[in-house]
This record gives sequence, C-alpha cells and structure tokens, in this order.
Amino acid sequence: MDKRLLVVGNWKMHLNASQASLLLHRLHERIKIYRSVEVVLSPSMLALQPLSIQIDRRKFRLAAQNAFHKDEGAYTGEVAFSMLRDLVHYAIIGHSERRIHFGETLPMIRDKVSASIRNGITPILCVGETITERRQGETNQVLHDQIATALHGLTAKEVANLVIAYEPVWAISTFGGQLAKPDQAQTAMDFVRKQIAGLYGKKTAEEIRVLYGGSVDDNIVSGYLQIPGCDGVLVGGASINYHKFSSIVSAAHKVASGAEEDED
Ligand code: 13P
Repeated sequence: MDKRLLVVGNWKMHLNASQASLLLHRLHERIKIYRSVEVVLSPSMLALQPLSIQIDRRKFRLAAQNAFHKDEGAYTGEVAFSMLRDLVHYAIIGHSERRIHFGETLPMIRDKVSASIRNGITPILCVGETITERRQGETNQVLHDQIATALHGLTAKEVANLVIAYEPVWAISTFGGQLAKPDQAQTAMDFVRKQIAGLYGKKTAEEIRVLYGGSVDDNIVSGYLQIPGCDGVLVGGASINYHKFSSIVSAAHKVASGAEEDED
C-alpha cells in the first residue's frame, strides 16, 4: 500500500490544452522527484491526452475530474472510464461541484466508483457536508450516507486501495471558502476511517488513504498534513498557481520526511 503523502491538484474547468501544457512545464521545473510525496495533476478532460505524453512519470500522475459509468454506448457528450484507463491513475468522483451543479446523486456516484475500479482507475471519492448540514448537526450522517452508498458492493481489498477526500463544501474557496480548523477536519476524517473500520475492518481502515480538501494553500497546508491520519490534500485554486502548488508539494515533503533539505 502506497503511504506516501498524496498531493492532488484539481485544476477544475481552467486552462485550455496549451495553457495546461505550460503549467505542467512550470511545475516540472520546480518540483523534484520526492520519494515521500506522490503528486497528482487533474487537468480538464481535453488536456489529459497531451499531458499524458508530456508528463514525467517519475514526478507526476494524472487524474480525471469525472467520467461516465458505462463503458460505451449512445451517451452523447460523455467520456467513459474505459477510455481513460491508459491515461490516468486516478479519477476524482463525487466532487461537490458535480453533486451541486450537475445533480449527481448517491447512486450515480456509486456507479462511477465501481466503473472506475472495473477499469483499473483508483477513485478519489469526495465527501463532505454543506454549511446548513453542519449547522443542523448532520455532518456525520451525511458522510455516512455518502460513503455507505458509494462503496456498496466493493470488497475490502478494493476499498483499501481507495482514496477518500473529505472536502466540507463550506470550506471550498468558490463555495464560501471558510477555513476549516484542523481539529474540525480531524474529527470528520476520524469519522470516515471509523466508518470504514466498521464496514470493512481495521486493516482496511488503516490502508485506505484519507485526504483533506478545501481552501488549502501553501501557507496552511502543513497544519492539515500534520493531522494524525491525514494522508494528503486535494487542492483547487492554489493548484493552478505554480508557485503555490510547488510550495505545497515541498511542504508535504517536509512534513513526510521531517527534512530540512530537499532530496533529488
Ligand atoms: P479550493 O482549494 O479552491 O477550495 O478547492 C477545493 C476543491 O474543490 C478541490 O477539489
């Protein structure tokens, strides 16, 4: 099980293919090969193919931001997980922007998780409550329902290989960007792991990687990465700024290795 810290940059619907290529070039100049950190870039669907050719695989892996759960068929406008299998290692699934703007439901997200695994792509399943749900004391219930549905029918081995990103909707920069305190993030991430332990056993809960996401930037990333049981971060806005993102990666390296010096 890969227990390097995982830093994922979700570029969302920003950058056309040539802008994405330029950003990758800038990141390549600044980011070294770290044994302690796995760096994943998630550009738009359009940029995945060119970036997969350009990318230095010792430094970076790619993730899709979404895909459709059927392997082929008359689904105009969609891209299947099966079409992405040689391009990406990961797929972000169930992002709150997909749930909120595109009406993705719990069963749709479950189907995407299973299609992703079926095609050899590791899901990064996003879960998180809205501010209203938090104020009403429903955070744990929301997380429970999102996880229980998404993982339905998976084996413990499949679950152990998953990544779950806790992204409170209220902490995402474009949905309010209220900073979650590390102890708030820890409480929710502990709940996620406890639920996995209850459903699939302690070993699976130890193996699964749990990330934090929501307004993470280079100034505050270390606070989240030092949370016990935090396996990395999912970064939105700051990931398309190469100064910020490369600082986030080097902060992750420092947390992971306790190193003052960068390694080559
Ligand atoms: P921000 O880092 O811009 O808050 O976005 C978080 C996010 O949605 C990553 O998937």
